[in-house]
Amino acid sequence: MAGLELRGIRKDYGSTAVLKGIDLSIADGEFVVFVGPSGCGKSTLLRVIAGLETVTAGDIRIDGAEVTQTAASDRGLAMVFQSYALYPHMTVHQNMSFALENMGIAKAEISSRVERAARMLRLTDYLQRRPAALSGGQRQRVAIGRAIVRDPKIFLFDEPLSNLDAELRVATRKELAALHAEIGGTMIYVTHDQVEAMTLADRIVVLNGGRIEQIGSPLELYNRPANLFVAGFIGSPRMNLLPTELVREETAGPAATLGIRPEHVEPCAEVDADLTVRVDLVEQLGGETFLYTSADTGGPNGLPLTIRCDGQSRLTRGDLLPVRLRRDHLHRFDATGLACRPDPILARSPS
Ligand SMILES: Nc1ncnc2c1ncn2[C@@H]1O[C@H](COP(=O)(O)OP(=O)(O)OP(=O)(O)O)[C@@H](O)[C@H]1O
Ligand SMILES: [Mg+2]
Repeated sequence: MAGLELRGIRKDYGSTAVLKGIDLSIADGEFVVFVGPSGCGKSTLLRVIAGLETVTAGDIRIDGAEVTQTAASDRGLAMVFQSYALYPHMTVHQNMSFALENMGIAKAEISSRVERAARMLRLTDYLQRRPAALSGGQRQRVAIGRAIVRDPKIFLFDEPLSNLDAELRVATRKELAALHAEIGGTMIYVTHDQVEAMTLADRIVVLNGGRIEQIGSPLELYNRPANLFVAGFIGSPRMNLLPTELVREETAGPAATLGIRPEHVEPCAEVDADLTVRVDLVEQLGGETFLYTSADTGGPNGLPLTIRCDGQSRLTRGDLLPVRLRRDHLHRFDATGLACRPDPILARSPS
């Protein structure tokens, strides 16, 4: 396994700049997740690392060795895509061993690698089946197995679970986490799924418009987003953003915008309230409830405010609710969208 260094990576397609200077160091054995809006360059960056795209500028090092001009097949990486592209006429065993045979690896070694991967991915009972006789989750595990047997320096995953239904996603996500724990490989993983990003990543890289907005552990990004983009992107439902003057006792200082997550807005007695909101929509999830509300700001549209409550709520559309914003969980952003530092949240250990 190996570490990865990206320095000043730029990628243009014609006159369109897609990657605008990416600097990133990934340690040996790290699980790094790329997130960002559609079109921000996640797949392009992964393909650049894989060697499936050339760079316009910058350099790539794997374990200290420069590979920027090295062909994909000589980089020693393995990529797993969203569409698993198994060979339909081959069994699971053949799908996993095919590339190794082409590499001239001895039969006994191939069998031992395939069996080990099959055991890790719980595919042992399916080795003689063809892909058509497998579920979507099993097929995707075969695609992952095909990557494992190659013993790559780095695993690259581009939304590998996005074609699976919710239950299979959860099951396969757990298998990936267990796999990483077992083989300890360096893994780079692209996803749109907040839960996958939060649960799998050692570090998350938030991309936006071909640049890195922030790099950090999942809870660092959640607790201390560096700017409004990351604040709005990490966390579901999104962080609420409010003008400073709406909050009682808040002295504006350098802050132009306040952020507060839905779990940090609390229904309270009217005398303690920062705001009174009107309930627009109630989403009962059983164990928790999301209230989509709006605060009357005098304008034609109220200011939207999402509130998370534990358990089940008796509130219904149209109800008025006094709420308080927990001071120890307020995020402050300046007029340019950067988090104001020092930030009280920095001083607080995650609870
Ligand atoms: N071969 C290409 N030629 C021209 N433009 C391209 C090419 N490949 C990608 N792009 C553009 O580069 C940008 C980034 O694409 P990319 O596939 O990396 O996005 P992404 O972050 O993976 O998005 P998604 O989340 O939708 O998969 C997009 O605007 C896309 O249209
Ligand atoms: Mg993509």
